[in-house]
Amino acid sequence: MLLVCINSVFVWKHWFNMLLSLLLLLVVSVTQASHYRGTLMTYYPQETYANGSVSVILRFKFNFQTCLDDSFSCTGKCGNESLVLPNTKCEEVIGVWCQSEKITSRLLPNNSPFQLVYASNSWFTNLNGVVYWRAVTSVELRHRSDTNRPNSSPQTTMFPALRVPSNCQRNINLLAFDPDGDEVKCRFANISLTECVSPCTPPPVLSLSSTCTLSFSTTSSSIEGWYVVEMVMEDFPRQAITLTQTDGSKVGKTTSDAISKIPIQFGFYVDPAAPSCSEGVYLPKFLLPTPEHGAHFYSPVNQALKIDIRASTTQSVITELLYSGPYNVVKNSSEPGSYSLTWTPSASEDGQSHPICFIVQARSVFRTKCTEKKILKYTK
Ligand SMILES: *[C@@H]1O[C@H](CO)[C@@H](O)[C@H](O)[C@H]1NC(C)=O
Ligand SMILES: *[C@@H]1O[C@H](CO)[C@@H](O)[C@H](O)[C@H]1NC(C)=O
Ligand SMILES: *[C@@H]1O[C@H](CO)[C@@H](O)[C@H](O)[C@H]1NC(C)=O
Ligand SMILES: *[C@@H]1O[C@H](CO)[C@@H](O)[C@H](O)[C@H]1NC(C)=O
Repeated sequence: MLLVCINSVFVWKHWFNMLLSLLLLLVVSVTQASHYRGTLMTYYPQETYANGSVSVILRFKFNFQTCLDDSFSCTGKCGNESLVLPNTKCEEVIGVWCQSEKITSRLLPNNSPFQLVYASNSWFTNLNGVVYWRAVTSVELRHRSDTNRPNSSPQTTMFPALRVPSNCQRNINLLAFDPDGDEVKCRFANISLTECVSPCTPPPVLSLSSTCTLSFSTTSSSIEGWYVVEMVMEDFPRQAITLTQTDGSKVGKTTSDAISKIPIQFGFYVDPAAPSCSEGVYLPKFLLPTPEHGAHFYSPVNQALKIDIRASTTQSVITELLYSGPYNVVKNSSEPGSYSLTWTPSASEDGQSHPICFIVQARSVFRTKCTEKKILKYTK
């Protein structure tokens, strides 16, 4: 199943009037900045063997300025890890960010919980002053009394960078789906739980609800620039359950106990103010047959699933569609504002749910006389 997520972040590239200076600024901030642009991971249990061994499929997204490979580390009884998919590019904005996916499988001697950690320095330069990164996943594979199988993590995806104009209020609904039917909750990373490294300050321009909505609500132009978002997503049972370990020991989980935990880290960019926050004017507006946010699509293995996306604007030009989803999605465009994403699930993805998010970007073509002069001067 493919879950669609429209991040409703209609990004508007501020290219009129400030075309040259903005481009220069972006280049400067990229070359000065460090390469890390966030990560996320999810997991699905695979097999439970008669000898007590269990296997799990781990999916990692790595975001860097260029397409780079990396690994989460595991301490304790983590079993043996084998590569299912080498690091593979999903989507790239050349010179700015690249999101790639890597899939591994771990064969564990038993179903005891374990943690995976991804930590290093440094984040790109950001206004909330975060330097070191640390991302933690808690993998729970003990047998659940309600589903009769091991737990799956919440499923989600996210771009390496979200952008909003500084004057436009935005509520961004993150995609949050749980294959076990659990309640999914979000919160910013907590330093007391070693989910991040000091300073671990969330962006002051964003609030995050437990239902996974990020709200951007300030209109001050002094806050333009890059921020870093470090958050976690957890699944909570809808009624009390029991988890049973391979050796027979049991532990209870109430509706206020998280079962598993995944990290979600990305950049958030506050752009200069847009002339209008209305969709369809400068910021793109999605048109039919674009699916709704949260739509579910089912597709059998090896059968292509095509999603058509259309968007329009009256005062700007749509430049591109960007997506964050499985590595084997193919993007195609017939004309500006008209796109398709095609996903052909492989046999190893059978029975699983995969999220895909997309955004459409536009740039302004409006020019003041002053800008025309500036451009002429520059090109001479
Ligand atoms: C992991 O690999 C080692 C060495 O190949 C092997 O002895 C061990 O049984 C494996 N663990 C599992 C859980 O299969
Ligand atoms: C348990 O059985 C599986 C499947 O036969 C095997 O791959 C795995 O190595 C076994 N685990 C141990 C710890 O022997
Ligand atoms: C962080 O975790 C600690 C320990 O569980 C808890 O006491 C504290 O309230 C949490 N902080 C926030 C901001 O949630
Ligand atoms: C991509 O679009 C072009 C132009 O519409 C079309 O010719 C081509 O077959 C499409 N490719 C895929 C993979 O859909």
